[in-house]
Amino acid sequence: MDKLVISGGLPLRGTVEISGAKNAALPILVGTVLTGAKCTIENVPDILDVDLTLEILEKMGARIVRRHNTVEIDTADVRPGTSPSDLVCKMRGSTYLIGAELGRFLYAKVGSSGGCDFGARPIDQHIKGFEALGASVDARGYFVEAKAEKLVGREIYFDLVSVGATINAILASVFAEGVTVLENAAREPHVVDLANFLNACGANVVGAGTDTIKIKGVKQLHGATYAIIPDMIEAGTYMFAAAATHGRVKINNVIPKHLDSISAKLSEMGVAVEELDDAIIVDATGPLAAINVKTRPYPGFPTDMHPQMTALLCFATGTGRVTEDVYDNRFRYVEELRKTGANIAVSGKTATVEGCGGEGLVGAPMKSVDLRGGAAMVIMGLAVSGRTEITEIHTIERGYNDIVRKLTALGADIRKIAY
Ligand code: EPU
Repeated sequence: MDKLVISGGLPLRGTVEISGAKNAALPILVGTVLTGAKCTIENVPDILDVDLTLEILEKMGARIVRRHNTVEIDTADVRPGTSPSDLVCKMRGSTYLIGAELGRFLYAKVGSSGGCDFGARPIDQHIKGFEALGASVDARGYFVEAKAEKLVGREIYFDLVSVGATINAILASVFAEGVTVLENAAREPHVVDLANFLNACGANVVGAGTDTIKIKGVKQLHGATYAIIPDMIEAGTYMFAAAATHGRVKINNVIPKHLDSISAKLSEMGVAVEELDDAIIVDATGPLAAINVKTRPYPGFPTDMHPQMTALLCFATGTGRVTEDVYDNRFRYVEELRKTGANIAVSGKTATVEGCGGEGLVGAPMKSVDLRGGAAMVIMGLAVSGRTEITEIHTIERGYNDIVRKLTALGADIRKIAY
């Protein structure tokens, strides 16, 4: 097993390149199944969730060649119902197999998916979408099995905003007869990226990025070459790490618009954020003010930046609050952060941080409980004085491409060591 060892207290300085977005790469890689052809996907991040997705697709019959950040994938021989459950259960993104298999083969059978533990993560809205299109879905046991004689476009109103349900409904309806209209759809950039990829393959998806998405069924798709958008959460994590360490970092290869809510909150804290065409400069040499944040679906402040925000508030002065409005329970990381001496109290859906400007906080051993919780621990370790050790780092490597190399290049003292 590996752990991260950080000697904290050094301001981050320099330039970091952001990789392709995890939450766009997963549905796009799975979406290639719909094409039954050869696709070339560029800017694919080198992270464990991508490794897992490609392994699953390969076991289902896809032919895959991976060179650096480019993946060539031919899904002609993929067979539905053949995804290995022992891999599927490790990742939430594997639910996308249901939509892709159903869309192409009118049949899907996929084991129960996994992913970070934030309490219950139901898929009732995914199922609502499949059923509206005419599929019968059996999700009583370990497997979700969906089948249809044919799929017919309908209006689907989601009871809540769900990234996964929106993506699955798009995947399932690409070949459905007529027009599918998704109402109260998720507006995240990765939903738009999937729609753009599918359109590049010959699909007709309109309105992604708004809360109404229309999918006009087409007869078939073809292969395409497509580059994945930059990862807004990876970018946001480096922005917060720069701020917590009072550093100055240029974050390259980003779409600044995607980072609006993150940049706005940093500005509110007194950090100078400068937007360039495809880069952002974060300059946090001054003191940090405490603020309140509530997570919301895009374009609100992302839940996937919540733990990192809690860590950052520990280095502000005054009382800050982070209210989680997307998940029931995303606070498991708090107990670990407290080991540094941080004063964080959780009540209901709100973490209250008594910021002390970082005074008196010291490095500690922490166990990464999930991807973004682990990222918060890294920020904490970088910004406090002394030595921090973080175990269970596979949870972090699920979503952060080359984090040790990137932070080292910014001047951090961070090493990955086997133990
Ligand atoms: N929900 C339901 N029923 C459903 C679907 C969702 O009640 O059928 C609830 C969820 O329990 C949650 C809320 O709706 O409370 C939002 O969930 P959503 O479906 O939007 O999340 P997801 O698709 O499971 C993706 C990302 C997560 C990210 C969320 C929210 C992927 C693979 N995962 O999950 O990413 O937190 O959207 O933006 O895209 C991460 O990257 O660290 C991560 C956890």
